[in-house]
Amino acid sequence: MQETVQKLLVEGKGLLAADESTKTISNRFETLGLTSTPELNKKYREMLFTTQGIENYISGVILFDESVRQDLHKILESKGVVPGIKVDEGLESFNNTPEQITKGLETLDIRLKEYAEMGMRFAKWRGVFKITDMYPSKDFYDENLGRMAKYAKIAQENGIVPIVEPEVLLEGNHTTTRCSETLDSTLKILFEKLNSEGVDLKNLIVKTSMALPGPDSGVKALPLEVANATLRALKRSVPPEVPGVVFLSGGQTPDEATSNLNEIVKLKGDSPWVLTFSFSRALQNEAMETWTGKDENTAKAQQVFIKRLETVSKAAKGEL
Ligand code: 13P
Repeated sequence: MQETVQKLLVEGKGLLAADESTKTISNRFETLGLTSTPELNKKYREMLFTTQGIENYISGVILFDESVRQDLHKILESKGVVPGIKVDEGLESFNNTPEQITKGLETLDIRLKEYAEMGMRFAKWRGVFKITDMYPSKDFYDENLGRMAKYAKIAQENGIVPIVEPEVLLEGNHTTTRCSETLDSTLKILFEKLNSEGVDLKNLIVKTSMALPGPDSGVKALPLEVANATLRALKRSVPPEVPGVVFLSGGQTPDEATSNLNEIVKLKGDSPWVLTFSFSRALQNEAMETWTGKDENTAKAQQVFIKRLETVSKAAKGEL
């Protein structure tokens, strides 16, 4: 596991999240007038993974089950890019409240054993936390983060590095400060749960959202404010043994996510962790819109993709 962590957390490189569930990729394709099928999903992801030079900017890719069964991880392995797998099974309602809890623990051990045999070296489990006046609730924190910690333990027992992803959702009318405080509480409770499960923090990666104001607040935060609020939450709650914290883009535009990452890295000071990206939409949107399912657009889409990767990689070094 230590070797996997070292391979993933390399200066100037980050992760590509290409683990959209069947439903999510269908929604993304639909906005472009495309109908998702296993064949079309494969074609699209092959376009991304065969882009020349991705290994200069990406250390690992998070895959969805379908892609592994289509052998797409072999393209990544041939480039020295580490394949990983999303293993949560999405969301279900929590105690008849509007909160949505992550499921997938029941069959996790057996699935991880199969994935390990197929060459998956790390895994991802996502939980979502929506900010409103009433939520997240105490019971929800306990149950959702308790499940995430159990997942991390089972992953490590199978020699797979767990990425724990508590995502504080962008939607809402909250302030940047409220988001930062929610991030802080979420991560603090997560680490309590990880410690009580006996998870080895050195062989674990945290994936988190940035601290941003809700779009309904009418406020747009500058990168400096986002970076300060995000780092404040991380410094209060993420122990120094954790080797890396990677950021999701969470519905920000590619440019916003890139500028905010750049500022976070510039201001990181003596923070003990490697800080980098693990974006899905902010890396893929422009390439997907250029491709739109047509073979004749592949080369152009690959150019757009590598250009975004190059820029985000600079941001991961704070060099923009
Ligand atoms: P976004 O970067 O599009 O938020 O996706 C990252 C991710 O992995 C969500 O689980």
